[in-house]
Amino acid sequence: MNDDATAADRARAAFSERFAGEPEGVWAAPGRVNVIGEHTDYNDGYVLPIALPHTTRAAVGRRTDGRIALASLQGDREIVELAVDELVPGRPGGWAGYPAGVVEGLRDRLSGGVSVLVDTDVPVGAGLSSSAALTCSVALALRDLVAPELSRTDLVELARRSENDFVGAPTGILDQSASLLCTAGHALFLDTREQRTEQVPLDLAARGLELLVVDTGTSHTHADGGYGDRRRECEEAAARLGVPALRDIADVDRLVGLEDDVLLRRARHIVTENARVLEVVRILRGDADPRAIGPVLTEGHASLRDDFQISTDELDACVDAALAAGAHGARMVGGGFGGSAVVLVDRDRAGTVADAVRDEFGRRGFPAPRTFDVIPSAGARRLV
Ligand code: GLA
Repeated sequence: MNDDATAADRARAAFSERFAGEPEGVWAAPGRVNVIGEHTDYNDGYVLPIALPHTTRAAVGRRTDGRIALASLQGDREIVELAVDELVPGRPGGWAGYPAGVVEGLRDRLSGGVSVLVDTDVPVGAGLSSSAALTCSVALALRDLVAPELSRTDLVELARRSENDFVGAPTGILDQSASLLCTAGHALFLDTREQRTEQVPLDLAARGLELLVVDTGTSHTHADGGYGDRRRECEEAAARLGVPALRDIADVDRLVGLEDDVLLRRARHIVTENARVLEVVRILRGDADPRAIGPVLTEGHASLRDDFQISTDELDACVDAALAAGAHGARMVGGGFGGSAVVLVDRDRAGTVADAVRDEFGRRGFPAPRTFDVIPSAGARRLV
């Protein structure tokens, strides 16, 4: 969580050191935590993320030799470099595939090439969308440099395509929308089918509340395995029910036609999760105490654990320990199979709750989790 000016200086200096020239600017894009609405995005449903104070910064400068060069302040000092013409899905791989996929999406405008240096404080592999922070920081930079007509919604698509088509992770648009469209002090209510957004005020501090993120340290990737399976199961359930997407079903009674128990569970999670997003938005829009969203978040966790079956022992232990220590609600966040949980807690109990989770992890022999509190922060922006 650097302040923007310090972060921009650091990225600019590192760019000059690696590429022997000045960048044309430095852009930042945040990670996200989803308040509620998990796996609903690729079912045309609703989501409610906030942007994290943690960002990825991209220092970017155009070149004239037709090459793309990518460097990161995390990891080793290697520069990934190849001709723009050589970009194909999967090449380059690893972290460099994410920004490379964005460049590939605008290759007609970037035939001269581009250098990118990235620096981040978004925890990687923690279910907090470090990948969207990476693609969105580069997408915004390239928009400003070579494609000024693109809207932020266009950039959501550009960043999503990088992840889906170039890296091969079949994600929806939750993370990219959060990173590009969130505003400070608000949660972003997004209807992914209509692409309609509403900024919902979320000033937890004013109500004596805090959102605590617990990073279990167990890592996940969406480019393989369970995430894609869930997506296919949801599509299969929708097809069997004769609807374009599970979003089109508002009532769980309509799921009785699904004979397959796995498909029934997957569909039931999506239908009830969409209802939970609407319920949380209704509470937050009104004058009600935001503590009232706590039980809805906890129900969301039970649904992800029992129906969607993507939780882990660490995430379940975190949720249970947090609730037992007095949290108002808690749930795993993101794609699942590891990563982080989010806990809604009174500010004056946050330390006690974090300690209780840490103690429980110790008792169960899990590695110590990392905890930090988050406030709804600004979306992607140019720093200098
Ligand atoms: C990952 C994906 C998102 C979304 C979430 C689950 O973060 O990138 O598109 O599907 O999982 O809500």
